[in-house]
Amino acid sequence: MSRSRPNRSGSRDGAMILEALNFAATWAVSSRRRAGEINSSVRLWARARRCARDWASHETKCKAFIRTNMPERGGVAAVLGSGLLRDVPVEDLARAFREVRLFDLQHLASVRLRARTKGMTNLRFVQRDLAEGLGFLRDDPEIGLVISANLLSQLGVAADRNGADAAAVIAGHLEGLRAAPGRRLLLTDVGFGIVLKDGSVAERHDLMHGVALPEPTETWPWPVSPYGEMDPGYKAVHDVVAIGL
Ligand SMILES: C[S@@+](CC[C@H](N)C(=O)[O-])C[C@H]1O[C@@H](n2cnc3c(N)ncnc32)[C@H](O)[C@@H]1O
Repeated sequence: MSRSRPNRSGSRDGAMILEALNFAATWAVSSRRRAGEINSSVRLWARARRCARDWASHETKCKAFIRTNMPERGGVAAVLGSGLLRDVPVEDLARAFREVRLFDLQHLASVRLRARTKGMTNLRFVQRDLAEGLGFLRDDPEIGLVISANLLSQLGVAADRNGADAAAVIAGHLEGLRAAPGRRLLLTDVGFGIVLKDGSVAERHDLMHGVALPEPTETWPWPVSPYGEMDPGYKAVHDVVAIGL
């Protein structure tokens, strides 16, 4: 009997089955059963897998910035927008800190499982809407490091979509970070350009809604949507900043 290779629609079906399983498993374990949020995390997970090669340099740079700027050891490290744990050096954090508190709307079952199989028992997954502010960090003397991990632009996008004041939400997050104890690191995309096949930039968008950020330590491009992801004719390249606050 000859074994046939999976064709493109076969691998698409396979990917859809994995996404459905991840959704169902996350629904089962999440303390925050909101289908829209879980679905959005599953879509991010699927996209990150599709775009892994294009996102690799961005993820490496994020991790390197955190490694260089994190304290050698401490009580609690808080990661805001921890999501898929792709852009944070979670194993280094788990070694250096007694507890690593991971905050996001949702944490997928696949992410929790990977952490468990790597033996990281001091990770705490917290489901929380960070658009509601960071006041909860302020009074925790055990926190030695706070990392805002590619979350800030998302808060602005969601506020804009809901008709709220995106600039106020962004400024509020910055204020909350500055008031948090310990070392504070901010990683975020601040804008993006739509780049056509001939290399020309057709559009530019400000993801900070006019809010000024402190001078970054480093900046780099992140091809969030390579050619073909949204449209074969263009790609979206985001501008990322890394800042110690
Ligand atoms: C670009 S992803 C960052 C990914 C993540 N740092 C990683 O390493 O994979 C943005 C993350 O912010 C989370 N997020 C968006 N809005 C949020 C909110 N209001 N509260 C908490 N997390 C939120 C999303 O669920 C997503 O995981």
